Amino acid sequence: MRRYSRITGTGSFLPPRKLTNADLVEQLAKTGVETSDEWIVERTGIRARHFAADDVSCSDLATAAARRALEAAGLAASDIDLIIVATSTPDMVFPSTACIVQNKLGANGGAAFDVQAVCSGFVYALTVADAMIQSGAANNALVIGAEVFSRILDFKDRTTCVLFGDGAGAVVLQASREPGILASDLHADGKHVGILCVPGHVSGGSITGDPLLKMDGQAVFKLAVGVLEEAALAALAKAGKQAVDIDWLIPHQANIRIMQSTAKKLKLPMDKVVVTVDQHGNTSAASIPLALDAGVRSGKVKPGQLLMLEGVGGGFTWGAVLLKL
Ligand code: ACO
Repeated sequence: MRRYSRITGTGSFLPPRKLTNADLVEQLAKTGVETSDEWIVERTGIRARHFAADDVSCSDLATAAARRALEAAGLAASDIDLIIVATSTPDMVFPSTACIVQNKLGANGGAAFDVQAVCSGFVYALTVADAMIQSGAANNALVIGAEVFSRILDFKDRTTCVLFGDGAGAVVLQASREPGILASDLHADGKHVGILCVPGHVSGGSITGDPLLKMDGQAVFKLAVGVLEEAALAALAKAGKQAVDIDWLIPHQANIRIMQSTAKKLKLPMDKVVVTVDQHGNTSAASIPLALDAGVRSGKVKPGQLLMLEGVGGGFTWGAVLLKL
């Protein structure tokens, strides 16, 4: 009998410090950086984001989200034999944030590693965990997207610093005789490395290059809209489904205009799209599991429904996961 993987619990965590656009406008004005609530809302749909306190790390957010997902699944940390953390803002160069989370949860002993695919990280991590469960390499996985993007923002660059936020989302993925994850479609095109990057690294005890986020917003926008439609259609075709079958589109929450355009291309009304970008901003690898958990906990996203998760981000990377909740 075929082995599948199924999401059996979701959880998320946002650091308590919430900045509305008005708060950010005021903060940026102190350093002579001009922006406005109108500009941010009109171009992105973002109204607020959360920033972690200085002493809070990516693994703290990830652990809090993971605890909630475990509780929802009715599992103990000791039941977990695989932890994958998708992040671009890890606690350390090494070891992986997943190992740190494993220790904080007291889930020691199973496999633990990070996946780095920027804003596509969660769909990459979910696909890897699904493959490991299908193959029998794992039974009970925690797949987490967690970010402290506020640490890598250039608050002198108004074209990027207004877009991002911090947070974490997690799912428990378990082996099952029933599907579960139906299909995945992952891609990357490394020739676009330069359009979205943090072009610094640690060398000889200091940082070489620039450790702050750089983005060519228009280039990212154009690429994102095209590839999200392609990935969704490819995942649907692999599962023998059509866009009309989708109950909820849960895309990476970067910009409401990208989400509207993707929904339109798939001929899905916006009331079938889970939107959290207005309250969370772009939390990179955390955005999809944060949106999924918000949808589940609000009661809108229900067991048995067909969900299309889609990510796109630096690399350039993109991908989709079609699943039955
Ligand atoms: N406040 C006020 N004005 C601003 C701001 C700001 N925060 N930022 C830029 N502007 C100005 C610019 O200076 C420019 O002024 P000018 O015309 O006088 O030169 C004007 O607004 C227009 O700037 P554009 O860059 O052309 O604005 P655009 O409409 O392209 O919107 C944006 C910019 C929101 C970044 C858009 O390109 C976008 O959303 N791109 C996709 C970004 C994205 O989704 N990234 C994440 C995906 S991957 C990942 O998540 C890591």
